[in-house]
Amino acid sequence: MEPIEWTAAGIRIIDQSRLPHELVRLDLTTLQEVAEAIAVLRVRGAPLIGIAGAYGLALCGQAIEADGRSRFMEELRRIAGALASTRPTAVNLRWALDRVLAAAERGADVAASKAAIIAEAQAIHQEERQATRRLSELGAGLIGDGSTVLTHCNAGALATGGYGTALGVIRAARAQGKRIEVFATETRPLLQGARLTAWELMQDGIPVTLITDSMAGHFLSRRRIDCAIVGADRIAANGDTANKIGTYALAVLARENGVPFYVAAPLSTIDRSLPSGDGIPIEERPPEEVTRIASLPVAAPGVRAANPAFDVTPHRYISAIITERGRVTAPYQGGIAALFAPPPAQSEGGPSG
Ligand code: MRU
Repeated sequence: MEPIEWTAAGIRIIDQSRLPHELVRLDLTTLQEVAEAIAVLRVRGAPLIGIAGAYGLALCGQAIEADGRSRFMEELRRIAGALASTRPTAVNLRWALDRVLAAAERGADVAASKAAIIAEAQAIHQEERQATRRLSELGAGLIGDGSTVLTHCNAGALATGGYGTALGVIRAARAQGKRIEVFATETRPLLQGARLTAWELMQDGIPVTLITDSMAGHFLSRRRIDCAIVGADRIAANGDTANKIGTYALAVLARENGVPFYVAAPLSTIDRSLPSGDGIPIEERPPEEVTRIASLPVAAPGVRAANPAFDVTPHRYISAIITERGRVTAPYQGGIAALFAPPPAQSEGGPSG
């Protein structure tokens, strides 16, 4: 599955807002189209919006008519700011935009910068694809043969460069020959679990049972779940993790019932500038997403509704964070810092063996 592609026509995406009933691809060609697609969740999931943002900036950068480098960079930064503001919680977006801006800075002139930003966006896509593949393989060892795994929202191929984080771990465990069953929460208000996770798993022939969010405690307490695994939108330096609203409640319920709770995410989701989850900005979305279900009004007209799109799970509820550089367990502060440590210097003559 290719949730995003860089083509001659622009950025080709699967419009996730129409799944699972229609598999429609859209070509995004302007800043307005890219920003709208991210804001209304046609493209979604932290790693994927990073990739979409990078491609969006590369695409819009080609259209900048500026002779001088400083005018070009000024305009590129304005576009990056507009893209960054579409979804504030997933740090992957800001991380990817900053990488593309840095690549532009390195160009000797405008033409070189325009070429460099396309190459950088493609490199981000490629690296993120490899990172999710690797972390999935590293995480698969945590899932025992015959396990039933609980997941929330959609952290699958659709949310990444094409393999998944939480669902990637499940896929990799299956590829190792393990028998795995999944319980997927529907994930109100936008139903990413019902619409996307259940669909992805069915495509792969992985047995899945769809439950409403409020059923999770029941199944955890009845010993129907062996472990829970979710993705992440931003992980602070101490391991506190922002993910789809409802994740915190699942983590607390998992702890209460003695069920391991894992987070799977690439390094691009870790924000070491934040000492704890207290500083993670939480996106507030329109109240109509709560008062309606799939555009059908369900609440009393005029009722006040709150709609935080994410919550923060304190690190003490997390059994392990799975990344492409390895798994980290408590104490997280040191373990997360070590993930970013440069590899040990090679001795003269290079590695042996
Ligand atoms: O609002 P969404 O659908 O973009 O939220 C997505 C999630 O919360 C995912 O769990 C997270 O981005 C990880 S995706 C690999």
